Amino acid sequence: MQQGKFITFEGGEGVGKTTQIKLLSNRLKDAGITCHHTREPGGSAGAEAVRHVLLSGKAEEMGLSPAGEALLFAAARADHVDTTIKPTLKKGHWVLCDRFMDSTRIYQGEADNVAPELIDSLEKLAIDGQVPHLTFILDLRAEVGLNRAHERREEGEDADRFERETVATHEKRRQAFLRLAHNNPKRCKIIDASQSIEEISFDIWKIVESELIAPNKADEEQSPTSDASQQPQAKEG
Ligand code: TMP
Repeated sequence: MQQGKFITFEGGEGVGKTTQIKLLSNRLKDAGITCHHTREPGGSAGAEAVRHVLLSGKAEEMGLSPAGEALLFAAARADHVDTTIKPTLKKGHWVLCDRFMDSTRIYQGEADNVAPELIDSLEKLAIDGQVPHLTFILDLRAEVGLNRAHERREEGEDADRFERETVATHEKRRQAFLRLAHNNPKRCKIIDASQSIEEISFDIWKIVESELIAPNKADEEQSPTSDASQQPQAKEG
């Protein structure tokens, strides 16, 4: 049986990954493709337990360093890859994952200065060769994304450990995501997340269609408002 395809969604806070995963999942189902929606940190029983420790701020309270956090993210990822992602792909189903290895590279590596050698080793161990076929990087000004994340939070619900950080830190991560996409143009596609939900979904679908469903079919349809193949330039700052 042919293995399923593995697609990851990355970006800052409040960029709309979850909405877009649901929309892509519906389109894939309409095309007769079975897909599984999962997330990181999490996606398996063990990894969801680690998610709680990381996002509630408990890891911070324990005085865990960014390198320690990177180890926990990697441990959660290894379990997720082993118990959920690989078995699902093996069945021929597609996996749509909300965050994956690039989040560790950007959040812990680029923004929190964990040594690149440690990030590389952890990534190798955790993903065990399971590199995504496609990664969408939803790009949005950090301030706009943080406001959206704030608005969607339910009353009484606190910002998580990462959402509490400054706009400047989040903007630094945004620029690092853009650089990562420019360095990996075949796998990573930048999507302008300031567009409408429908426009973003259209851009994503055109790329999935042309890259994974019918890679040899010429692109017949044009986006109503944007060209998804255009990669915005990473800005320093
Ligand atoms: P989210 O589910 O709202 O995207 O929250 C997950 C948070 O965890 C988000 O702030 C990014 C952070 N994170 C990391 O710092 N490193 C990682 O490897 C992953 C997967 C997430």
